[in-house]
Amino acid sequence: MEPSVLQYLKLFLLLVLVGVTATRVPHQDLPVSLGTLSLDGHFSFHDLSAAARDFGNLSSFMPAAVLHPGSVDDIVKIVRHVFLMGERSMLTVAARGHGHSLRGQSQAARGIVIKMESLQSVRMQVHSGTSPYVDASGGELWINVLHETLKYGLAPKSWTDYLHLTIGGTLSNAGVSGQAFRHGPQISNVNELDIVTGRGDIITCSPEQNSDLFHAVLGGLGQFGIITRARIALDRAPKMDRHPEQLEIIVQPTGSLWASHFESDGIVLFCLEMAKNYNPEEAENMEQEVKNILTQLRYIPGSLFHTDVTYIEFLDRVHSSEVKLRAKGMWEVPHPWLNLLIPRSSIHKFAREVFGKILKDSSSGPILLYPVTKLRWDNRTSVVVPDEEVFYLVAFLSSALSSSGPHSIEGTLSLNKRILEYSDKASIRAKQYLPNYNSKQEWKAHYEARWETFQRRKNAYDPFAILAPGQRIFQKASLTLYS
Ligand SMILES: Cc1cc2nc3c(=O)[nH]c(=O)nc-3n(C[C@H](O)[C@H](O)[C@H](O)COP(=O)(O)OP(=O)(O)OC[C@H]3O[C@@H](n4cnc5c(N)ncnc54)[C@H](O)[C@@H]3O)c2cc1C
Ligand SMILES: *[C@@H]1O[C@H](CO)[C@@H](O)[C@H](O)[C@H]1NC(C)=O
Ligand SMILES: *[C@@H]1O[C@H](CO)[C@@H](O)[C@H](O)[C@H]1NC(C)=O
Repeated sequence: MEPSVLQYLKLFLLLVLVGVTATRVPHQDLPVSLGTLSLDGHFSFHDLSAAARDFGNLSSFMPAAVLHPGSVDDIVKIVRHVFLMGERSMLTVAARGHGHSLRGQSQAARGIVIKMESLQSVRMQVHSGTSPYVDASGGELWINVLHETLKYGLAPKSWTDYLHLTIGGTLSNAGVSGQAFRHGPQISNVNELDIVTGRGDIITCSPEQNSDLFHAVLGGLGQFGIITRARIALDRAPKMDRHPEQLEIIVQPTGSLWASHFESDGIVLFCLEMAKNYNPEEAENMEQEVKNILTQLRYIPGSLFHTDVTYIEFLDRVHSSEVKLRAKGMWEVPHPWLNLLIPRSSIHKFAREVFGKILKDSSSGPILLYPVTKLRWDNRTSVVVPDEEVFYLVAFLSSALSSSGPHSIEGTLSLNKRILEYSDKASIRAKQYLPNYNSKQEWKAHYEARWETFQRRKNAYDPFAILAPGQRIFQKASLTLYS
């Protein structure tokens, strides 16, 4: 199989679900001094419950207020004000993208949640030319970036599976999908950022300018600053300007076949999803290329099928599932997801035990696997990945649809725990993606040798630990909430 020909690979498996902890903290009014600041936008003190929710539906922390910023300057003013209140103030600040975190990471108990999507003052600007890019707000949804750039026949190079996520939110993690093996994660496809640090300074940074801050923020879990603008590298969207019917092929076995085989034989079946970008006039070549690839694969012949869809339909495919799940009331349910990065040397061992044994009889959602090459990851960023040339993102995307049993929150969380315990015991050397830990000890273990750097950067850019408290890495001196 030639990776150069595949736009991306996915192996679907079976899976499981998880647990909920809702913590309510009493509402507390903001210090009067904040009300004296003149803003382009406004604070809201009512309807705070939306800011105390996220996609995970497992954690809920009520903020004191939600800021709807009318400008970048609003964000600067508020963060600087909170910084100047000093270490002893209890206030923290969380940037909230689309709130698609899993464990309260974009929430701020009794703090200020900044609704980044309200930041309309940074208008998207597409620059075509030899190295095209788009400047966009940190609160912009990737789906909007796609629509805007396609007007110029351009598109970002690296994606997430789902586009109703914000630039700031995915860049704070990494942004991984089927294109990452070729182009690297989204954090490897950014040229420049504007950051409001935890001191309330606004700083433009890039690999050449203020590079330490630039790398800190990428994969930095919101710990070092708020991304207000990002310059995203673009590529030609395969002739989309000339051929609006840009097409894709997706090859995968049918769900029913897949399910019946899984149950009857008790063996683990992998579904390989393959996508090929092409333009209509290249259709014949594409067919030949796909045939060539298929001759190199072993698969159940009757399970093969393909669909032709437009480039947008392909990239936005998860949204169509969202619409269907919403209609059935199956979207706003607890999502005890677990995402792991597994080094290639232990992926077989991991698969045998986890797919073959631990999850043998459970299926509470899809499991996705993506191979990625380390080559495209920059080790100066904050994200940690396994120390091997090739590793896999293994995403256990569970929905807790029942209130008891293996598909309940508790059932899934306990399976997740077994997977993590097994990985530790068997020296799989896995790293969590979208990491979730509760103690500093665990965070240190996560960052290993990188912890010193992570801590140094925190002291430099957010010394009072004001930002993104929901990650539970650092705690403001005045708070004992999470300890
Ligand atoms: C259905 C679904 C599919 C997904 N698919 C993928 C996928 O394919 N690949 C992948 O990599 N991830 C995927 N994710 C995970 C996604 O990257 C995270 O949920 C991430 O948190 C982005 O969500 P968000 O934009 O809503 O950010 P939020 O959840 O709102 O924020 C995430 C963190 O970043 C901080 N933050 C938010 N905005 C900013 C900003 N402007 N500046 C600084 N910090 C900020 C927040 O404080 C918080 O700590 C998926 C999530 C869901 C729910
Ligand atoms: C989970 O979602 C339901 C429905 O939207 C909501 O009522 C509940 O408060 C949420 N729980 C948490 C912990 O966020
Ligand atoms: C990053 O990788 C380079 C090249 O392999 C290495 O020399 C350097 O020490 C690494 N830096 C960090 C911070 O790990």
